[in-house]
Amino acid sequence: MNNASEKQALGKDLRKILITEEEISERIGQLADEINERYKDIEEPLILVGVLKGSFIFLSDLSRRLTIPHVVDFIAISSYGSGGNKQGEVRFLMDTRENITDRDVLIVEDILDSGNTLYYLTKIFKSRGTKSLEMAVFLDKSERHEKEVNVKYIGFEIPDVWVVGYGLDYKEKYRTLPYVAEMEPQKD
Ligand code: IMP
Ligand code: MG
Repeated sequence: MNNASEKQALGKDLRKILITEEEISERIGQLADEINERYKDIEEPLILVGVLKGSFIFLSDLSRRLTIPHVVDFIAISSYGSGGNKQGEVRFLMDTRENITDRDVLIVEDILDSGNTLYYLTKIFKSRGTKSLEMAVFLDKSERHEKEVNVKYIGFEIPDVWVVGYGLDYKEKYRTLPYVAEMEPQKD
């Protein structure tokens, strides 16, 4: 597709495709290979903890490429809004069902932006005494980091633009696009 016809197919909200379905699939395979290797001698199944909602597609594709024993779990959190002294901290709306103490845990998140979510989440999870704790994020906006978080598995680095698709949304729209697209800047 040339630029003009691609733009027409994407509609008015989406500027361009940043990462195609094929690129995503190839990269997920590479990440799965690394994770399979890292946990090959695991004693108890690895707990994959997906952060709802954004991670659900990444987690489902990644988990289906894993050959190591693993179980899937989810959490839902909300970030405290700006203002007040709790800025940036996270609040649990739904906690894991598995007890993560003494277990190998891999947090699976859609995107690393400011780093706040994963910074506070790892603090909370570590305090529960996990055996090991690592993170896999699908996308990384490295220009926007405010907190330092050590993410072991990163799908793709992207620039500081709003992206949708493959789990990521704009006001709940475009979450299930099979590719990652850059949004046109929105007025609201
Ligand atoms: P944090 O700033 O690293 O804590 O990321 C907070 C959350 O913002 C992420 O988990 C995403 O849900 C959301 N987010 C950040 N950038 C984007 C984006 O470009 N598209 C969709 N969601 C985003
Ligand atoms: Mg999120």
